[in-house]
Amino acid sequence: MTTHEKIGEKKRSFLGAAELKKEEIQHLLTVAKKMAPHVRAGENIPLLSGKTVVNLFFENSTRTRTSFELATRKLGAGTLNFAASTSSVAKGETLIDTARNIEAMRPHCLVVRHASAGSPIFLDRSVSVPVVNAGDGFHEHPTQALLDVFTIEEKLGSVAGKRVVILGDIAHSRVARSNIHLLTKLGASVAVCAPPTLLPPHPERLGVDFAFRPEELLKSADVVMALRIQLERQNRMQIPSLNEYSQFWALTKERAKLLRKDAIILHPGPINRGVELDPEVADGPHSVILDQVFNGVIVRMAVLASVCDAKALSTWMSGK
Ligand code: CP
Repeated sequence: MTTHEKIGEKKRSFLGAAELKKEEIQHLLTVAKKMAPHVRAGENIPLLSGKTVVNLFFENSTRTRTSFELATRKLGAGTLNFAASTSSVAKGETLIDTARNIEAMRPHCLVVRHASAGSPIFLDRSVSVPVVNAGDGFHEHPTQALLDVFTIEEKLGSVAGKRVVILGDIAHSRVARSNIHLLTKLGASVAVCAPPTLLPPHPERLGVDFAFRPEELLKSADVVMALRIQLERQNRMQIPSLNEYSQFWALTKERAKLLRKDAIILHPGPINRGVELDPEVADGPHSVILDQVFNGVIVRMAVLASVCDAKALSTWMSGK
């Protein structure tokens, strides 16, 4: 989390998992754990009453945008949704001009999704309100990784010492990148698996193991994170066909039989059923995919409260 000095005020933004210290990750998880029973009971936690959070989405989203909106409302704040496709971006307005004009209406936080890697960081330097990264190109998706870690801890007790296998299009995945940062900082052992064309160059430099065949990794996994092929981020198809991909790399019913009984399967969504994940596996006993979606609301409440009003959050956490 970055703290900036700008126009005499401190602001905290949430831009990437790479920059988070272990203590900051653990603090956000602790906040989310304290918020969880209230959210499960349908209660609001109005730490941000009178504030406004703007969702600036320049790329499509179902889970992330909706859960940020719900999280904002549950914190007592107002929410405003900006969709690039129906905005003046279509008339040629730039990202910075768009953000500055939205900022002129005095919101308290901008949640940004953009197809260009680094755009939330760029934007953060141009506005005085906190910026939260809701996914930037193939760079980072830090709130997704935080909700994945929260879900692993909820299901398996702890991330430390767990074997996490990330299976799919690692090269173009912001989810894989952010998860590798968080999971390794928290002491998990991470392995990635993909066809050679869908692995980044020198995967070992990410601090993870790698294999080209899922069969080599599935038996030892506590967690399998299946990822979609990010065709929208590839200049040209980097596998011979989706059929061949499924044959060798999908988490099929047969491959899922290799898993230990207590292993869990995560997927950030959207799922391409029958491509990277068989429908029976997506809906089967190992799957915690819809729990991830629910936990997204809780974790995004923790992040928004932390960046928008750390003082109110601290008072609430201490029970005063
Ligand atoms: N996981 C995720 O980012 O999903 P959406 O694209 O639907 O927000």
